[in-house]
Amino acid sequence: MQTGWLGHQRGVVQSTFRNLRLQNRLPISTTIPSAVVSSRSIVTPIQCLKRETWSSLPLRQRSTSSYLDHQSTTTTLLFAPTRKQQQHSVGHFHTHSCLQRKGDLIGRQQVINVNVARTMATVAAPSHVDLVLNVDNINPNVKAMEYAVRGPLVIRAGEIEKELAMGVKKPFTEVIKANIGDAQAMGQKPITFIRQVLSLVAYPDLLNSKEFPEDAKSRARAILESSRGSAGCYSDSAGLELVRNHVAKYIERRDGFPADPSNIILCAGASEGIRSTLKMLSTISGPRTGIMIPIPQYPLYSASIVEYNMEQAGYYLDEDNDWGLDVAELERAVKEARKRCNVRGIVVINPGNPTGQVLTRDNIVEVIKFAHREKLFIFADEVYQDNVYADNREFHSFKKVTKEMGDPYDKLELASFLSCSKGYMGECGLRGGYAEIVNMDPDVKALYLKSISAKLCPTVLGQAVMDCVVNPPQPGEPSYELFSKEKAAVLKSLSERASTIAKAFNSIPGIKCNTVQGAMYAFPEVKIPEKAIAKAKSLGQAPDVFFAFQLLEQTGMCCVPGSGFGQRPGTYHFRTTILPQPEKLQIMLDKFRSFQESFLKEYQ
Ligand SMILES: Cc1ncc(COP(=O)(O)O)c(C=O)c1O
Repeated sequence: MQTGWLGHQRGVVQSTFRNLRLQNRLPISTTIPSAVVSSRSIVTPIQCLKRETWSSLPLRQRSTSSYLDHQSTTTTLLFAPTRKQQQHSVGHFHTHSCLQRKGDLIGRQQVINVNVARTMATVAAPSHVDLVLNVDNINPNVKAMEYAVRGPLVIRAGEIEKELAMGVKKPFTEVIKANIGDAQAMGQKPITFIRQVLSLVAYPDLLNSKEFPEDAKSRARAILESSRGSAGCYSDSAGLELVRNHVAKYIERRDGFPADPSNIILCAGASEGIRSTLKMLSTISGPRTGIMIPIPQYPLYSASIVEYNMEQAGYYLDEDNDWGLDVAELERAVKEARKRCNVRGIVVINPGNPTGQVLTRDNIVEVIKFAHREKLFIFADEVYQDNVYADNREFHSFKKVTKEMGDPYDKLELASFLSCSKGYMGECGLRGGYAEIVNMDPDVKALYLKSISAKLCPTVLGQAVMDCVVNPPQPGEPSYELFSKEKAAVLKSLSERASTIAKAFNSIPGIKCNTVQGAMYAFPEVKIPEKAIAKAKSLGQAPDVFFAFQLLEQTGMCCVPGSGFGQRPGTYHFRTTILPQPEKLQIMLDKFRSFQESFLKEYQ
């Protein structure tokens, strides 16, 4: 054990780094994890290293991590915050009082992980410069927002991967990243037609090649023509006119009602469209805007709501009723929220993330009537519209249902989103998506367009992917057969995995899982024994966080704790994707079963 001591008692912190033998390969900006201290302070951990050792390192390696690399696997650092010490510091360390304030310290090891991520940008700031930004004076909303899908657990998973690569022995040989809906990262192959069109758009010389089918070439030619000959040109902020026209036709085919291309905004993934639209509802004066979001929800919403200075008005989904939406609960939630904010919008995720539910048409009708009664802007997050697996369910778009319901419901303000990251495409990294916004006041729409113009435009390659999604090969075209075969194979396999996963979880003691009707996730409930809850408490962790960390450390399986999405108090869940390929999924489920058996043995 290597110990350094600053000799200053006040605010001294001890942090234990176990198995943190990683770096040298981490970016230069990686610095020592700041410790959680009892006082608000800037600490100077460099002081606790042997000065000669530190200064003899090349700048690139001046991080505690590289230092630790030369030390034993367990190192104790003692930090003390004094002004004098700061003056000698190579790097500034800010403690994360936000974590303390919120009381969500999640155990020594995990806090360190959080801080590893949060101090990535704190290297070698010259100590004589008074920096404009520190964690106490930045936008507090940025500090407060949380996004569990890429939170501390995932950071730890990344560290474990590096440890494995360095030969550290573990009870497993790989990390299974079941935390994020990234199909291609889990081995799904891209759809050939999409990649052909993309290649042609990116490198038009290939249009002369005989390797590419004529329909891929004609799509690419049209996209290039619409984007002034090159994917390297900016497009209009709302996207290429050609693609917006194709999106409108796609919606018309899907819903049987007209769609206006001027209501279509192409965006860099659905996230960007959701955030741009959500932002429109934020106000500066008067009571804060409240947005109704499902609990559990996809944390893009909770994070963005905080970032835009709005209030979350959560309504619980009904776990006992396949995560359906209960109007009485909506009414309870809006009434409760109106005591503290001005509720102006409702988000519905259908098919659901993290819950995997597909709403019935009747349920959608009820939500629309509720939104009308309460004068709410509807956010219909429909990014999983192609991912419906349950025989007794089908996808109904909110827009179609409002049209079928007629006046006054078809006058409601509504934004609906689709993405190329989900469905059968899984093109998460290409960042394509669209928002269809109907019934927006024309003056507001003009301001909306102005607001997105500051971002210039989504990538033209992302728009090209969306074009393939909404304008796929038709019967008789050369790519039709392969495209249909590949699309069907992905969706069939996802459907099989959805049913395998729910069955497997339901056969494991202490786990209860609803049918995965759609989307890409299961959100099982886990009964955590009292003894484990007490253990979690002793570590300063939420019980589901403790469970998920134990699962990760013992099996390499990376899932997200239910608290990252929200859950009824006293219940515990975790979210796993259904995306590992079938063979890996089976391995994952077997590992989970034996983990749960030993967890119960230890804590029951
Ligand atoms: C419900 C939901 N909406 C929106 C998104 C955003 O996806 P993207 O920005 O990749 O289109 C996701 C991603 O997982 C999601 O699950």
